[in-house]
Amino acid sequence: MVGSLTYNPFRLMPILEDRSIEFLSHSPEQTQRLGVRLGELLKPGDLVCLAGDLGSGKTTLAQGIARGWGSLDQVTSPSFVLINEYRRADSAILYHFDAYRLSGVAEAIALGLEDLLGDDGPVLVEWPERVAEALSPHRLWISLRWVDDLRRGLHIEADGLRYERMLVQFRQAAFGG
Ligand SMILES: Nc1ncnc2c1ncn2[C@@H]1O[C@H](COP(=O)(O)OP(=O)(O)OP(=O)(O)O)[C@@H](O)[C@H]1O
Ligand SMILES: [Mg+2]
Repeated sequence: MVGSLTYNPFRLMPILEDRSIEFLSHSPEQTQRLGVRLGELLKPGDLVCLAGDLGSGKTTLAQGIARGWGSLDQVTSPSFVLINEYRRADSAILYHFDAYRLSGVAEAIALGLEDLLGDDGPVLVEWPERVAEALSPHRLWISLRWVDDLRRGLHIEADGLRYERMLVQFRQAAFGG
């Protein structure tokens, strides 16, 4: 199967059916490792939305993403801080925004969400549905789902060409095909 993909002449073109991917993580460590693969692909201005119930693994995935991106800082749950910033050796910043405690999009804007989104750093948003109106329709939207104590379902959807390409790269980096 990998071979046929390798020789697929359409491989470099965005493939519409490939706009989403679904898989099961069997441990927090596996979720973090997948996050690392994704974080390695992030570029300035990228938006990654992390949706899912309490304890579904959004922050766990964000920890991996930040590590893969090259953060020097340890990722903590931003639920009490709302906005965390992680720095890299080249002084680039990755923003991690948590909308859980917000009353709505007006409060998010008052807190500077739009400034973050307009800045150079990639942005991770937990509870993105609470600030949906402020978010670009172009983004990677990851939904996490609790399955049992150690397993989480992850569904990733790419909206926009940039993110479709990112998803193709992620698929190759994480699953080899
Ligand atoms: N496969 C898995 N992937 C991710 N987390 C897992 C997995 N299995 C168990 N866990 C555990 O589930 C918990 C997930 O917590 P985490 O803070 O990442 O969730 P969250 O979605 O950010 O929650 P909140 O909405 O409260 O911020 C952690 O304690 C983690 O160890
Ligand atoms: Mg969290």
